[in-house]
Amino acid sequence: MKIAILRETADAEPRVAATPETVKKLIALGATVAVESGAGAGANISDAAYGDAGATVGDRGATIADAGLILAVQGPAAADLPGVKPGAMLAAILSPFADRARIDGYAAAGLTTMAMELMPRITRAQSMDVLSSQSNLAGYKSVIDAAEAYGRAFPMMMTAAGTISAARVFVMGVGVAGLQAIATARRLGALVSATDVRAATKEQIESLGAKAIFVEAVKGIEGEGSGGYASEMSDEYKAAQAELVSAHIAKQDIVITTALIPGRPAPRLVSDAQIATMRPGSILVDLAVESGGNVEGSRPGEIVEVHGVKIIGHRNAAGRLAADASALYSRNLYNFINAFWDKEAKTAAFAPDDDIVKGVKLTEGGKVVHERLTAA
Ligand code: NAI
Repeated sequence: MKIAILRETADAEPRVAATPETVKKLIALGATVAVESGAGAGANISDAAYGDAGATVGDRGATIADAGLILAVQGPAAADLPGVKPGAMLAAILSPFADRARIDGYAAAGLTTMAMELMPRITRAQSMDVLSSQSNLAGYKSVIDAAEAYGRAFPMMMTAAGTISAARVFVMGVGVAGLQAIATARRLGALVSATDVRAATKEQIESLGAKAIFVEAVKGIEGEGSGGYASEMSDEYKAAQAELVSAHIAKQDIVITTALIPGRPAPRLVSDAQIATMRPGSILVDLAVESGGNVEGSRPGEIVEVHGVKIIGHRNAAGRLAADASALYSRNLYNFINAFWDKEAKTAAFAPDDDIVKGVKLTEGGKVVHERLTAA
């Protein structure tokens, strides 16, 4: 089977779907690998490095010709896959709920497509979980971005000229990104606190040496929906949370928000009025900015200043660490392919009844097949 690695065409996407390491591993499985020229440039990987790993390097047409499986970071439109053979497979981050027309285009082109971000959160699929691998880096980078923009130091310093107090960092949303943000801010010497709606995170926050800020007074909160994700909270809870957070935010130097609810816009966690209570020079980083934003006034791709406070809204936070993000994403893809590789036929055979395949497959045989897309 020929596997094609595309050069990303989406705006500001520096990541790549294979590295020389995973190219070698795919070849070791018995695949041939073709890489589009320039694919690795954003992640500091040259065409020559892919060539040395055993891939052929060429233009998009040559890369796609006869490919049975195409790998990308962000899903290209079917029209951007010239000469793709019907029945070819595409595995990438496909964002089916944000852009349904593109998914219908894959079906019309006869492609079998797999959305890596829909990987089920089961133990067997952990090594294929692109949301985790990328969120972890995003959480780290959010703290680095905050530290860079903050006009003060993070750690407490006792010097001959006097003492500098430690920065206070508050992390809202303690999933994969939030946990890494807590750990990173602690390593830099900040005083860290964090909150989440899922009660299970309290212990995780404390085990990282941070203070847990939790709504305790409202009855009936478990906060946990399906698959370990958050659910939408009651109005009573939201009011109690806003009150608790208001008092806390006014004392923070850095606030990092990462809260997401699957299939819904990101919850609004920080209001303009709350930002106005923060000290000038404070920093907010909104990692949910591309899903609607946790912070009032945050804008995707921009750093805005309100009430003397900077709100950082970088897009594609993981892509800001393109080399590491590409390495982890590529291994996620390799692990997925390897789990379903038919050694005799030397081809990827994604078993239709497998929970992993059912979880990710969007289109096949000219139709949209994913249950979340076919449900009326
Ligand atoms: P996410 O990116 O969907 O959301 C980030 C965090 O925001 C979550 O912790 C969520 O509870 C929180 N949140 C949502 N609404 C909020 C609100 N109104 N206020 C405060 N916080 C709010 O979450 P992520 O990072 O994808 O992780 C979700 C869960 O999945 C975690 O428990 C994680 O450990 C688990 N997980 C399981 C895996 C597996 O079993 N294979 C792999 C990766 C994660």
